[in-house]
Amino acid sequence: MPDPTESAKTNGNGVIKVAAIGDLHVQEDAQTSYRDLFGEISREADVLVLTGDLTNLGKPREAELLAEDLRACSIPVVAVLGNHDYESGCVEQIAATLRQAGVHLLDGQAVELKDVGFVGVKGFVGGFGRRMLGSFGEPAIKAMVAESVNEAMRLENAMRQVRAKRTLVVLHYAPVPETVAGEPPEIFPFLGSSRLAETIDRFKVSAVVHGHAHRGSYEGRTPGGASVYNVAMHIAKPTGRPYALLEI
Ligand SMILES: [Fe+2]
Ligand SMILES: [Fe+2]
Repeated sequence: MPDPTESAKTNGNGVIKVAAIGDLHVQEDAQTSYRDLFGEISREADVLVLTGDLTNLGKPREAELLAEDLRACSIPVVAVLGNHDYESGCVEQIAATLRQAGVHLLDGQAVELKDVGFVGVKGFVGGFGRRMLGSFGEPAIKAMVAESVNEAMRLENAMRQVRAKRTLVVLHYAPVPETVAGEPPEIFPFLGSSRLAETIDRFKVSAVVHGHAHRGSYEGRTPGGASVYNVAMHIAKPTGRPYALLEI
């Protein structure tokens, strides 16, 4: 007996609806609860994707509050961490809390859900195109570039794990400059890295979602033509809601 809510969400061709939202920035003292939003998303979509900055200051309590709210979510949840989740040096505790809550937390891995491969990595800074930061000069600069290259390599390794025909790439940092447009140009290099797009373009992907650039733009493309969506909750989206709905 098919689940009626399931058939309302999928179109029968195996296409699934993915709700994607980033930068929830859950805080200890905030009055905001995401329970109603997660309930709404569970009725609208087949899978929920969270694109990092799940917590505001990377505190274990913030992750616990998010895990409590996620009890209202009845669909699978895929997530990556963001820079804010690293702020208090408690990233392992945060990851453990979310995994205990059933979240597929990806950090250089892939998970297959409903015949779609979800590939996740946080990504890193470094800038875009020919103006990317290069590995030259001081060891500190070289370390920064090495981290950016390393995230791209971890994304590549995760992409190679996918056996599904459809793939959604989940990032925190932006892979292209189009979706950070709207932010001050001076901070573009801190919002993402083209090294991620170079990796993505070596594979066939259905779409890419990211967050981090709260004042960026919703839609862009990699040089190879993959659709990129900035789903930070502050970005205006076609749904008119804080989350994007993508058919994959
Ligand atoms: Fe954020
Ligand atoms: Fe961020």
